[in-house]
Amino acid sequence: MAETKNIVWHDSAVTKQDRIKQNQHQSPVLWFTGLSGSGKSTITVALEKALFDRGIRSYRLDGDNIRHGLNNNLGFSPDDRKENIRRIGEVSKLLNDAGLFTLTAFISPYREDRDNVRELLNDGEFIEVYVKCSLESCEARDPKGLYQKARAGEIKGFTGIDAPYEEPVAPELVVDTEEKSVEEAVEDILAFLEAKNYI
Ligand code: PPS
Repeated sequence: MAETKNIVWHDSAVTKQDRIKQNQHQSPVLWFTGLSGSGKSTITVALEKALFDRGIRSYRLDGDNIRHGLNNNLGFSPDDRKENIRRIGEVSKLLNDAGLFTLTAFISPYREDRDNVRELLNDGEFIEVYVKCSLESCEARDPKGLYQKARAGEIKGFTGIDAPYEEPVAPELVVDTEEKSVEEAVEDILAFLEAKNYI
């Protein structure tokens, strides 16, 4: 645990509730998890646009993008993946406080790491979305050619090949991208958000 002595929390004059009231919507974190190539990025891009078009303030955090900047010192060892998700969790909490919808697209292969993010937020603010797709289909899609490299031994510790993926036990939502198109997946998520009064 890092040293937190001599550090004092400073409150803002504007609260999260003030921002929620002004935005006229809640600020949940939609946490998309799934194998590489399952469709996390594609769905979150389409969902962000659909939310934007409805006047909902949202922001998307994506594995490849965040690893270019904030987390460019992290690799794919279990410890680095844990730290990756911990930092994204903290950023998500800041965006949650800022009154924004947050859409995160990270493999986030470890159940414990995802649960730790859930713990950072209030009840109902963490929505785990399992982007379900079999390894066989992800590997057949192989949009970046990474599975091929992993099979050839050119990438070590690739999720699903020689590194684990722990499926969610009780996700708020499951989106099966072998059965649904991107448009249908977005419709399902919007229907869930409406039914639960998030939007
Ligand atoms: S994690 O496990 O949550 O920390 O991973 P994440 O930050 O989401 O990054 C996943 C993207 O990194 C690329 N990549 C790898 N993925 C899995 N395992 C290994 N070893 C690896 N090396 C590079 C890959 O493009 C992932 O992108 P997505 O969008 O998931 O396909």
